[in-house]
Amino acid sequence: MRKVFLVGAGPGDPELITVKGLKAIQKADVVLYDRLINEELLTYAKPEAELVYCGKSPDNHSFSQEDINKLLCNYATQGKTVTRLKGGDPFIFGRGGEEAEELAKRKIPFEIVPGISSGSAAPAYAGIPLTHRDFSSSVAFVSGVTKLGAEEDQYWHHLAKSIDTLCIYMGVKKLPEICNKLIQFGRPATTPIALVHWGTTNRQQTVVGTLADISEKMDHITNPSMIIVGEVVTLREKLQWFEQLHLEEDSKTQAFVG
Ligand SMILES: C[S@@+](CC[C@H](N)C(=O)[O-])C[C@H]1O[C@@H](n2cnc3c(N)ncnc32)[C@H](O)[C@@H]1O
Repeated sequence: MRKVFLVGAGPGDPELITVKGLKAIQKADVVLYDRLINEELLTYAKPEAELVYCGKSPDNHSFSQEDINKLLCNYATQGKTVTRLKGGDPFIFGRGGEEAEELAKRKIPFEIVPGISSGSAAPAYAGIPLTHRDFSSSVAFVSGVTKLGAEEDQYWHHLAKSIDTLCIYMGVKKLPEICNKLIQFGRPATTPIALVHWGTTNRQQTVVGTLADISEKMDHITNPSMIIVGEVVTLREKLQWFEQLHLEEDSKTQAFVG
């Protein structure tokens, strides 16, 4: 039996994987990868490595979590070194915990290689520090979708009142509802909010507004997007750099071509 590496691929920019994560790709016999990883990372795998797309998307789960768990275990028990490549960090809304539990249950050796989560990377590339001595001394990584059912109001109540900066994963579809709940539970309607779509990639787009008006401004922004709520969002005006960099690079290319 060989080992399974549960590896965070980072948020999209392929250079944001860790050295340890990259080494795990290089030594793998099989790489099982998710939809949100940058496929450029697969070019580091051995030419003979088997590459298995596990294609999990919000609306279309081509493999169930149980299928993926089974695949991981089957490859490992065949004596293969398996790298399970997941977007961002495997232990932050990545179901890496469930996969590790299955490996532990079957006594299959594994290592966890953390990754840079989109919750910290997308704001950084949008010029939004999550904490700042003048604006925020607490931050929470939260999910826009929960299994809480009737208790969900309590969840938003707590978040609205107790945390300065919220980074909300998987929240775009429910954005109007989330904004209404935060306002209902005490966050001012003027609270700044940003949506960062495809953060850290050359498709990155950022929309800024307030809890009251972001739903009208978000236009065509869909999944994957990070939602950042809090006063820190105002710093983007001074600190945005990444989208700027692309504009400058594009205009240089155009000038060169022209
Ligand atoms: C299932 S969660 C996976 C999170 C991942 N494990 C991480 O640590 O970033 C998927 C959600 O992460 C966020 N996300 C992932 N990649 C993103 C990116 N490049 N830009 C913005 N948000 C992203 C979106 O909110 C998306 O709906």
